Amino acid sequence: MNAVKLSNVAALLAGLSGALLTLLTLLTLGASSAHALEIKLPQETAQLKASTLAGHQAANAWCVMCHSVDYVNTQPPMPAAFWHAEVSKMVKVYGAPIPEDQVKLIAEYLGKTYGTDQK
Ligand code: HEC
Repeated sequence: MNAVKLSNVAALLAGLSGALLTLLTLLTLGASSAHALEIKLPQETAQLKASTLAGHQAANAWCVMCHSVDYVNTQPPMPAAFWHAEVSKMVKVYGAPIPEDQVKLIAEYLGKTYGTDQK
């Protein structure tokens, strides 16, 4: 009686180690396929409108970190006050590390070049 039970236990253990081996194999395969994942983004073609204002350079430096400048290009014509609020939102809500003096320059450039302000 005891011998039968022991052999059952042995069979159970053999089954378990087989399952464990399968699990380890799957995990190893999963880990190696993570290295194979490669994402290629298309070349960025959108550009900010040219200007001699200092804010143009500042916008080229700060406004391309997270998204395409198409986000700027597709806005309706708005004054600097709108752009100041917009750029401040990038800083406060989305964490853009843009210093306040640069925010002002960018708002002026966007208000004049994209917006309704006098050039
Ligand atoms: C830290 C990252 C970051 C930086 C830097 C950044 N943005 Fe954004 N911006 C975002 C995110 C996130 C959104 C929202 C995306 C969405 O809703 O799909 C956004 C959206 C926008 C939009 C669309 C309208 C809106 O309010 O959602 C405009 C316009 C815009 N950004 C302008 C700018 C300008 C101008 C600059 C440079 C001063 C800038 N962004 C820099 C993160 C950033």
